[in-house]
Amino acid sequence: MKYCIGIDVGTSGTKTLLMDQTGRVIKTASAEYPMMQPQNGWAEQDPALWWGAAVKTLRAVLDSFDAGQVVSVGLSGQMHGLVLLGEDDRVLRPAIICCDQRTTEEVDDLNRLIGKERFVEIAANPPITGFTAAKILWVQKHEPELWAQVKKILLPKDYVRLKLTGTYATDVSDASGMQLMDVAGRCWSGEILDKMGIRPDQLGRLVESPEVTGSVTPEASRLTGLPERAVVVGGAGDNAASAVGTGVVREGAAFLTVGTSAVLFGHTRQMHLEPEGRVHTLCAAVPGEYHIMGVVQSAGMSLRWLRDACYGAELAAGQPDLYSRMDDEAAAIAIGADKLLFAPYLMGERTPFLDANCRGAFFGLSSIHTRAHLVRAVLEGVGYALRDSLELFRQMHLTPEQVVLCGGGAKSPLWKQMLCDIYGLPFAAAADSNGGAYGAAILGAVGAGLYDSVQAACDAIIRITERTQPDAAAGAEYERYYRFFTTLYPTLHERFDALAAL
Ligand code: XUL
Repeated sequence: MKYCIGIDVGTSGTKTLLMDQTGRVIKTASAEYPMMQPQNGWAEQDPALWWGAAVKTLRAVLDSFDAGQVVSVGLSGQMHGLVLLGEDDRVLRPAIICCDQRTTEEVDDLNRLIGKERFVEIAANPPITGFTAAKILWVQKHEPELWAQVKKILLPKDYVRLKLTGTYATDVSDASGMQLMDVAGRCWSGEILDKMGIRPDQLGRLVESPEVTGSVTPEASRLTGLPERAVVVGGAGDNAASAVGTGVVREGAAFLTVGTSAVLFGHTRQMHLEPEGRVHTLCAAVPGEYHIMGVVQSAGMSLRWLRDACYGAELAAGQPDLYSRMDDEAAAIAIGADKLLFAPYLMGERTPFLDANCRGAFFGLSSIHTRAHLVRAVLEGVGYALRDSLELFRQMHLTPEQVVLCGGGAKSPLWKQMLCDIYGLPFAAAADSNGGAYGAAILGAVGAGLYDSVQAACDAIIRITERTQPDAAAGAEYERYYRFFTTLYPTLHERFDALAAL
C-alpha cells in the first residue's frame, strides 16, 4: 500500500492529513497560529509560523508510521497572500494575507495602469482589494526600499513548498488569484507584469495542480520525517483543493462551504466570465478547466461575532458547545425571526457587491426580539447572502443540480436545512470532510501516478454519504424574506459610503 499526504496552510492553522492510496484517512493533525492586525483592516502572518506548523503536523501524522511508504505530498492553502523573499530566501516582511483590505487605492491604480476592461480580459476578474496584485502595488508604493530587495514573490502554501523542496513554483488555481496571470492562457501575463514593474524571474514556475514540482530535500526530510523521494505536487488554492476533496471536478458540480467566510464554488470546463466580476473566475485544480466562485466575507465570522457579543456569560463560564446552544435557541424562532433581517457585511462584501465600505446591519429590530432572534437572523442573513451567489450562477446559466455542503457550518443541522431550503436544491455531504488537505492529498496521488486523472481519483475515492432535501413550504417562506433582503443593500449602499467617509 502507498500513502499520500495533504497539507492545508490555512489562515487560522495548518492541517496535515495522511491517507492510503484508496483515500482512507489514516491520521490528521492540526496546529494553530495567530493573525496580526497591526491596523484596522490589515491582516498579516509570519511565514515561519506556516513552516513551523507544517513540520509539527507532519511529525505528528508520521509518528509511529513507516514513513518510507509515503509517495507524495500535496499542498493547499489560503489564497491571495503576499510572501516577499530577498537574498537567500530571507522573508523580507510579514506576509500580507487574504483578508487584508488596505488596498482600496491600489485597486484604482491597477484600473488606471492596465485599463479596467483590459484587466478583466487578462485576469478574468476586476482588481480586488484582497488579491495579491494590489498588495504588490501597496508595497512598491509604501515600502520602496524593501521592494528593491525582492527576489521572489510567493503565495503562502508555496513558501511551505520552498522549504520542503527548495523549488519556487505555484499552481494555476492559486496563482489565478494573484491577478498576475493570463487566466485563459494559463500563464503569467507579460502585459500585467510589465506595467506593474515585476520581473518574470521574481515569480515561481507555473504548473497544473497534479504536476510534480520537486521532491523532499534531505534537510526537510530530517526535520519532518518525510522520505526524500516523496514528490511534492503543485496542489491548489484552498477552494480548488476542497473541490477535489468533495469530488466537485466536473461541469455543473458545486460545493458550498461555510467557514469564517463562505464560498459557493462551481466547476466549469470552459472559462465563464461574469461581466461585472461579481463572482470570481479562476483556474480549477483539474488541468485545463475552470471554476467560478461567489464569496460571502463574514459567514461563520458573523455568528462568532454574535456569540462573543451576546453569549459572554456562557463563554466566560467555558460552556462547551455554545454554537449548538445558539442553534437550539434559534430553532425555537419561526422563519423570518419575527421580521428581523441581518445583512452580514461586517468586513465589507465580495459577492455580489465588491464593496469594501459596506457594513453589517440588523433591520427591523423591535423590543420583542431576544438574542435568539438575533441568532436566527444571522443564520438566515448569511443564507440570503449566499443565495445571491446562486442567483449569479443562474444568470450565467450555471445552475447546479445539487450542492455538496462542507466546512464548519455544515455541522449545524439547523443551518444545513435552512441553507438547503433557501437554495431549494438537494444538498449532499462527502464521507470524509477534510477540506483542502484531503483534496491536496488526492492531487498528490495523481501526481505520483496512482490515478490517471483528478476525475478518476475522485471517482474512486470520494463517497457521498448523506443527502438533505429542500422543504418546499419552508423554501416559500424564506423566499419572501430573501426578496426583501435583496432590497437592503441597494437602499443602504450610499449610506455605507457616507458612513465610511464620516
Ligand atoms: C478565496 C479566499 C478565501 C481564502 C481563505 O478567494 O479569499 O477562500 O482562500 O483561506
